[in-house]
This record gives sequence, structure tokens and C-alpha cells, in this order.
Amino acid sequence: MKGTREDWFPTSVWYFDLDDIPARHLEMIDDLRRLREEDEIGVTGRSTELGWHSHVDLHENPIFAPIMRAALDGGMEVAAHQDWDLDRVEIFVINSWGIINPKYGYNAMHNHPSSVLSGVYYIKAPENCGDIVFRDPREVCQMVVLPTKKQNRWTYQRVFYRPKEGRLLIFPSWLLHEVKPNLSEEERICVSFNIGYRQK
Ligand SMILES: [Fe+2]
Repeated sequence: MKGTREDWFPTSVWYFDLDDIPARHLEMIDDLRRLREEDEIGVTGRSTELGWHSHVDLHENPIFAPIMRAALDGGMEVAAHQDWDLDRVEIFVINSWGIINPKYGYNAMHNHPSSVLSGVYYIKAPENCGDIVFRDPREVCQMVVLPTKKQNRWTYQRVFYRPKEGRLLIFPSWLLHEVKPNLSEEERICVSFNIGYRQK
């Protein structure tokens, strides 16, 4: 007997490797460090622990405009794939912020309320600087965890993505995620963003 399987409720994490932005990384790093010097405390009370979190206005800073364009292009790709009705609504970058995690810096588990898509772009990602980890949103699946010969898409409880300089990740804003501690001697630097929608 062989049944027909139908898979429902997929959760997509997208990534895009951008060729043209890395040439701007030094300028972006300088600007983030300048912002940190001006405001050493930065924004607190978010997911960042032992690191620095900028104010959420980088989408208005021209130095980061190439990342915002790529974020929106990526969002449009997601929208097209998921058949969002872009005749009726448009998507836009709501806000954006930089995070500098020095050694041992990390980000606690969180999601991004009040937006539809969120993402991150990696500017500086040395070896062992901390993976981003997505948690299976189907919490009820963890009521019973059966032994498996090999983990697969139906049994993973967490998925790890290693940061890569020049890579942009986009995921649903509701998807819980965390960043593991930076165990390298160098800083881990990224720019995160939220994408929302509005009626046309
Ligand atoms: Fe996040």
C-alpha cells in the first residue's frame, strides 16, 4: 500500500548572497562604530546581550541604503512566491538597526511583533561568531519526540544558519530565533530590519 502525502504549513527562510554590497562594508562598519561611540549604551531591553544595539533608524541612513534596497527586493520575492496581493497593498522597510556583538555577545530567543517579514544582513562574520538559530514554530510537535535514525525536516526542532558576510536572510517575523554567543576574538556585525505592509 502506498499513500499520497500532502505537506501543509511550510515555514520558509530565504537567503540572498549579494555581490555588490561587500565593497561598502568598511564604510558601514565605520559608521556603526561611530554611532556606538556617540551612544555607547544604545537601545537596551531587546534581544541583544553583552553587545550593542543601535537605534532603529538605519533605514533612514544613506550609508545603509543598499541593504534596505536588497531587503525590499528580497521581500518582493517572498511576496511573489506567496501570492500576496500587491495591487492592494505595498510592502516597505519599517525600521532597521545594527548590532555589534563582541566576544560572548549573543541574542536571546525572540521574534519581531508588528511586522510581516524580518531579516538580517551580515557585514562582519568571523569564524565561530555565533549562528542564528530558528526554532520550530509547531511547539505542539515537541509533546512527543520519537527517536529517529536521522533528523529530517519533520523532526528538526531547531535549524542553524551560519552567518556569512554579504548574505541577507529573510524569514517570517513571527518565527522565534536566537543568536549563539560570539566565541571569536573579533566583533560580529550585522544589520537587521523589519518589513511591513500598508494599503495602497
Ligand atoms: Fe531578531
